[in-house]
This record gives sequence, structure tokens and C-alpha cells, in this order.
Amino acid sequence: MANPPSKRSNLVRCIGMIILALIIIVGIAVLIIWLVLKPKRLDYSVEDAAIHNFNLTDANHLYANFDLTIRAYNPNSRVSLYYDSVEVSVRYEDQTLATNAVQPFFQSHKNVTRLHVGLTAQTVALYESVPKDLRIERSSGDIELDVWIRARIRFKVGVWKSKHRVMKIFCSPVLVKFSRAKSFQRTPCQVEL
Ligand SMILES: *[C@@H]1O[C@H](CO)[C@@H](O)[C@H](O)[C@H]1NC(C)=O
Ligand SMILES: *[C@@H]1O[C@H](CO)[C@@H](O)[C@H](O)[C@H]1NC(C)=O
Repeated sequence: MANPPSKRSNLVRCIGMIILALIIIVGIAVLIIWLVLKPKRLDYSVEDAAIHNFNLTDANHLYANFDLTIRAYNPNSRVSLYYDSVEVSVRYEDQTLATNAVQPFFQSHKNVTRLHVGLTAQTVALYESVPKDLRIERSSGDIELDVWIRARIRFKVGVWKSKHRVMKIFCSPVLVKFSRAKSFQRTPCQVEL
């Protein structure tokens, strides 16, 4: 005589075992991929920054050229990156002073790439306390800026390429001295991916 309830519970147990086995296999696969790739944090910093032709007019319009050197380090030994678009902005107290784009580039593993970015503020209208604070900092000889970078990237591992992801990089405070004789303090950046 067949015993249906027992058969059904056998089937349930069997399906349960299969699901458990699948979870363990996927878990082991993820662990192996993780161990092989050993993903490491991408590392960015502002290595140098300068201001030229700073001119804040009586009408609170700003003209200025900013020169930045941004160091991008990919510490991974198997993961490379495509930077498909990179946009760099210089901000002061939440006001964007200048923005520029960087040529798309590919960064292989263990690579250090230095980006030299020139940004121009042309008749940027400043409002609220910004012009006053800028004048005070100008007379003190240096100015605290924020550098924001927005990049669309893809990861590459072997022949596999990931989908596009947006990476936000924030460097603050970037202390820029008007006198080039003084040395620049390297500013590490935070990365949000
Ligand atoms: C700053 O800009 C104003 C308005 O364009 C101009 O009249 C003035 O000569 C400029 N000053 C300097 C030092 O370039
Ligand atoms: C990083 O990659 C760039 C572009 O391919 C290359 O010019 C540079 O020499 C590389 N740097 C290092 C440290 O490998």
C-alpha cells in the first residue's frame, strides 16, 4: 500500500535539499570569485592645485582658472576600469565655480594615472555669503575648495565587462594657495560607488 503523505514529505525534503545545495554552490562560487579578484578600494587624491587670473569683480562675478592634478590609483591586480565619462567640478560653499570634462580613458590593473584638469570660471555670478567669504580667503592667501568628480565607469575582468556604474568622488578641503611658492597639501578623496 502506498503512503501518500510520506511520499509528499519525501518530495518536500528532496526539493529542500536541492535548494540548500544550490545556495551552498552559489555561495562557494561567490567566495571563490571574491578570493580570486580580491577587490580593493579605488584610490583618488588631489595632488596639486593652483589658481590663476583670479578676478572677483565689484558686481560679484568671478573669473579664474584652476589647474588640478588628480591621482587615480587602481590597486586591483585583476580588475581594470573604463572611464567612459569623467566630469570634474570645483565648488566653493556649495556653489559650482567651474566644470570640465576629462577625455575617456582605460585604466589597467595596478595603474596610477594622473589627470591634469584645467577649469575656467567665466563670469560666474556668486550669491549670498560666497563673494564676501571668497574675498576674505583671497586676502588670507589661500582658499578652501571642494573638488567633485562624477565618472561613468565599467569594470573589466579578463574578457568580462560590467555594466555602466556611476562613481562619485569627493575631495575636500582642497587648500589652494595663491602663491605658488608654497607647497600643496595632498587631499585624499572619498569614493561613492
Ligand atoms: C577684472 O575684471 C574686470 C571686469 O571684467 C576688469 O575691469 C578688470 O580689469 C579685471 N581685473 C584684473 C586684475 O584682471
Ligand atoms: C598607467 O596607464 C597609463 C595609460 O595607459 C600609462 O601611461 C601609465 O604609464 C601607466 N602607469 C603605470 C604606473 O603603470
